[in-house]
Order: sequence, then structure tokens, then C-alpha cells
Amino acid sequence: MTRALEIGMIWAEARGGVIGSGGTMPWHVPEDLAHFRSRTQNCPVVMGRKTWDSLPERFRPLPGRTNIVITGDAATSRELEDAGAVPAASLPEAVRLAHTRAGSATEVWIMGGGAIYAEAVNSGIAQLASVTRLDFDSEGDTFAPTLNPDVWELVHSEPDQGWNASSSGVDYRIETYRRR
Ligand SMILES: NC(=O)c1ccc[n+]([C@@H]2O[C@H](COP(=O)([O-])OP(=O)(O)OC[C@H]3O[C@@H](n4cnc5c(N)ncnc54)[C@H](OP(=O)(O)O)[C@@H]3O)[C@@H](O)[C@H]2O)c1
Repeated sequence: MTRALEIGMIWAEARGGVIGSGGTMPWHVPEDLAHFRSRTQNCPVVMGRKTWDSLPERFRPLPGRTNIVITGDAATSRELEDAGAVPAASLPEAVRLAHTRAGSATEVWIMGGGAIYAEAVNSGIAQLASVTRLDFDSEGDTFAPTLNPDVWELVHSEPDQGWNASSSGVDYRIETYRRR
């Protein structure tokens, strides 16, 4: 029997909702990477194939987490398995696989990219969102989903108001939203 897992999404966005450009993230904010690591540690993570491709080979699969990667391509599925990931053919299948591989984890984290976040919001599959807001303008071709305030409530912000200063020079704030 499978246990209920809380399904969260986690991303960082620049002003205007930019999350990616040319297949990568056009910034380096170490404090956000540390937040991502600690929030997702020991939990299954779910990502689209292009987000997997964006991870440097030496860092994937992300350690301490079952990496579930969504692809529609059978040959890519086999390559993903060889590389230590768990392939899934759809977001619902990825979430089912996360339940079977969660161990003692109580959360699964959907970690991008744009196509997968949009499906997770629009399908109602996610209940939680951890959003790191970066206070700068970025070029971009991939965008965060819109969290409609009628549906999503801001439940926590660090700091409460204003921004934290990053060693990278980019101010940032980490917000948590919950589906009402
Ligand atoms: N700022 C952040 O926090 C953050 C986080 C993650 C990613 N990103 C950025 O986002 C960008 C990547 O996002 P993206 O939207 O281009 O791609 P993506 O969502 O990572 O991956 C898209 C791929 O996932 C597979 N896929 C998606 N939906 C599917 C479905 N319903 N059924 C089967 N397969 C499906 C397809 O793979 P196949 O083509 O193999 O079939 C599709 O090409 C990069 O720039 C990355 O750096 C940013």
C-alpha cells in the first residue's frame, strides 16, 4: 500500500517570472542552491528531461534523492536508467513512482522545468510551492507558473519583508505557498 506524500514544487525566479534561458539558469545564487539541497534532501525529485539535461553530468543523479525524469521517448528512458535515474512517461506516472520509492520521506519535490511546473499547477497535482524570488532582471525563455492568489496562499516568507543579500550580489527572498 502507498502512503500519501505531500507534493511540492520548488523553483527560483527572477523578476517577471524567468526561470531559465537557453537550457540553463542564467544566475548562480549559492544560498538558493543550499536551500534547494536541504529542502529536497532524502525526498524523491521529479523533473522534465530538459531539466535533467541541464544538470552537469557529475552532479546527476542528484545524490540522496530518487531522481524521476519525465520523457516521452523510449530510447531516452533507457539512457536515463543507465545513468541512474528513474524514467516516467508522464507527471502522474512520476508521482506514482515517487510514492513507491519514498522510503521515510514525507514530501516529493517537482523541480522543473517550465512545462512540468505548468502541468503540476494546472492539473492540481501540487499542494505546496517553495519559490525563491531573485530581485533582478534576467533574459529568459522559460517561465514560472502563475500562482493565482485565489488558489494559492503565501504561508511563509524569509525574510518577512524585504530581501536577503546573497554573496552573489543578487538579493533574494524564499516564499512558501500552499494550495488553499
Ligand atoms: N529556476 C529554476 O528553479 C529552474 C528549475 C528547473 C529548470 N529550470 C530551467 O528550465 C528550463 C527547462 O525547462 P523546460 O520547460 O524547457 O523543459 P522541462 O520541463 O525540464 O522538460 C521538458 C521535457 O520533459 C518531457 N515532458 C514534459 N512533459 C511531458 C509529458 N506530459 N509527457 C511526456 N514527457 C514530457 C519531454 O521530454 P522528451 O523531449 O524527452 O520527450 C519534454 O521535452 C531550463 O532552462 C532549466 O535551467 C529552472
